[in-house]
Amino acid sequence: MTWLIFLALAAAIGGALWYLLIKTEGIYLGRGAVIWLYDLYAGRYDAIKQYDAADEDVYLAQPILERLDCARAPLVLDVATGTGRLPLALLEQPGFQGRIIALDLSRKMLARAAEKLAPFGDRAALLHHPAETLPFPDGAFDLVTCLETLEFLMGARAVLGELVRVLRPGGLLVLTNRQGLDARLMPGHTFTHEVFERLLRDDLGLDRVEVLPWQLDYRIVYARKPGDAVPVGARPLEEVWRCPACAAVDLVPVRDGWRCLACETLVPRGADGVIEAVRARRERAR
Ligand SMILES: C[S@@+](CC[C@H](N)C(=O)[O-])C[C@H]1O[C@@H](n2cnc3c(N)ncnc32)[C@H](O)[C@@H]1O
Repeated sequence: MTWLIFLALAAAIGGALWYLLIKTEGIYLGRGAVIWLYDLYAGRYDAIKQYDAADEDVYLAQPILERLDCARAPLVLDVATGTGRLPLALLEQPGFQGRIIALDLSRKMLARAAEKLAPFGDRAALLHHPAETLPFPDGAFDLVTCLETLEFLMGARAVLGELVRVLRPGGLLVLTNRQGLDARLMPGHTFTHEVFERLLRDDLGLDRVEVLPWQLDYRIVYARKPGDAVPVGARPLEEVWRCPACAAVDLVPVRDGWRCLACETLVPRGADGVIEAVRARRERAR
């Protein structure tokens, strides 16, 4: 009898751990758990996902470029870039002459992205920074993307508001919405496609919302910010970002990174080129 109770208890604990850590990737344990798990899996992420370059070309990069119309040199923000999937797909397109700023909160995922994006030099800037508060002014980007991530955030609606804020009027937003059994196993973190579409149209005021079949687990979503501002164009990071510690625009390049003239914070650049905004904020807070 004691053994039966012990076995039932072990099965219940094992099941709970599997659900919390594997099936739902830490989302019910908080942001720290999600990022810890991505750090842990960063070295195996690409092997697990097995993204195919030809598919990424046809199903990801080309449909985006078609929707960017004549803006072939846009400034792009990819939020939660992971190992750099979206920047790589765009930068490999011969017709793409833009620049990309890509951020993520997993430093180890960014280290993998840095290796893969190294051949593209300063056309891709990698920032260790959370999605929740974006260190950019309103309307700073022509294209904002956030793929396969909204379900892992603690406040997806607030992040969506941030993505729309930094998009210029007339700019393109590209998202994914999780579907299938896994989506149903993440209550409170996923939206039905109908609810997601209404959220983008009615709450965020976006135009031309398209929710299209894409992958088994996701639909892809394209939407426009109403209005028609002049394209931002392929500007370097220096021209658009703000100090991650105090949000001032006074960042000047120094030997190993940038210094904010307003609050004196040093934002270092790691040996792999990743910009250490999280470290800068932490050191400033001490
Ligand atoms: C499933 S991966 C998707 C990566 C990439 N967009 C892709 O399509 O391959 C989710 C990513 O979200 C990142 N992430 C999760 N929560 C985040 C947050 N609050 N801020 C920034 N990145 C976050 C994780 O570190 C991970 O790299």
